[in-house]
Amino acid sequence: MNVKELEKTARALVAPGKGILAADESHGTIEKRFQSIQIANTEDNRRAYRDMLFTSKGFGDHVSGVILFDETIKQKGLAGTPFPEVLAKSGSIPGIKVDAGTVAMTGSPEEKITQGLDGLRERLIAYRQLGARFAKWRAVITIGTTIPTLPNLRENAILLARYAALCQEQDIVPIVEPEVLMDGDNTIQRCLQVTEQTLHETFDALYDHCVVLEGMLLKPNMVIAGKKCPAQATPELVAELTLQCFRHTVPCAVPGIVFLSGGQSAAQATHHLSLMNAGPLPWQLSFSYGRALQDEALKAWGGKPENVAKAQKLFAARARLNGLARSGKYEPKMEAELVRA
Ligand code: 13P
Repeated sequence: MNVKELEKTARALVAPGKGILAADESHGTIEKRFQSIQIANTEDNRRAYRDMLFTSKGFGDHVSGVILFDETIKQKGLAGTPFPEVLAKSGSIPGIKVDAGTVAMTGSPEEKITQGLDGLRERLIAYRQLGARFAKWRAVITIGTTIPTLPNLRENAILLARYAALCQEQDIVPIVEPEVLMDGDNTIQRCLQVTEQTLHETFDALYDHCVVLEGMLLKPNMVIAGKKCPAQATPELVAELTLQCFRHTVPCAVPGIVFLSGGQSAAQATHHLSLMNAGPLPWQLSFSYGRALQDEALKAWGGKPENVAKAQKLFAARARLNGLARSGKYEPKMEAELVRA
């Protein structure tokens, strides 16, 4: 394990003014995104869509790295260049999603366990040869009246830690993603309690598995009320409770925390990130958004080559606003830029 290289990659991924684009939708997830714009989920459409995103002007200015799916890391863009090379040329680091999705947990079927450790060492070796310098594994934690259970939190934490240790063995920076879903009707206080417990269990397991904290990134949810909760919190309260939660649970040896957007609107996710970056923090606080970076561009693209330029402008504008949010300089009135784009 080359700790210096791991640290260097992790720090580059959370460099000031930049963040990560999660473009690692599985075939099932991209199907849902394409259904929303009524285009077929074919390999050519997936290539054209990712090409549109990755070749937008100034891509590397605000996108430090991109999480790819297995198909995409092996695919060539429309100009015939392999996608990892397209990214590297723009100054963005290629990454790879390595989990194999979730299954219902035996004995507690409302909860999920992530799969994908089988053959992971060999896959990591192959992905590194294809250019990957970081990876992602997502655990899913569901809030309900009697869940999450401690066995679910512990099992997911152990899987995240084993994955992270295997990545570091191959000099690949692990993004450790324990996502507490925001789909329910729970209050923000309940999300705070569950997220805090999830992160405690996660860092306990990372310690047990000797994961080098300086060579990893954490990808958590924000502390936020469930989407169906009648009492939605103010952006200021989301920022305050999220930071409180991390101060209690995330060691300052971790170089960066990169949020998922989890179903927040693009504007909401940017605003929350900016509020949290208003003062000094022990870690870099950045983004690793999927939907919150892509949704506006996806809609404008609609699967039509003639819309590529417009979609790319929207993508670049949203990436720039998130870049500003890295230093607390975003303001909601800047949303007007996207209307003009
Ligand atoms: P969202 O930002 O759309 O939640 O996606 C981020 C991600 O990578 C989820 O695993």
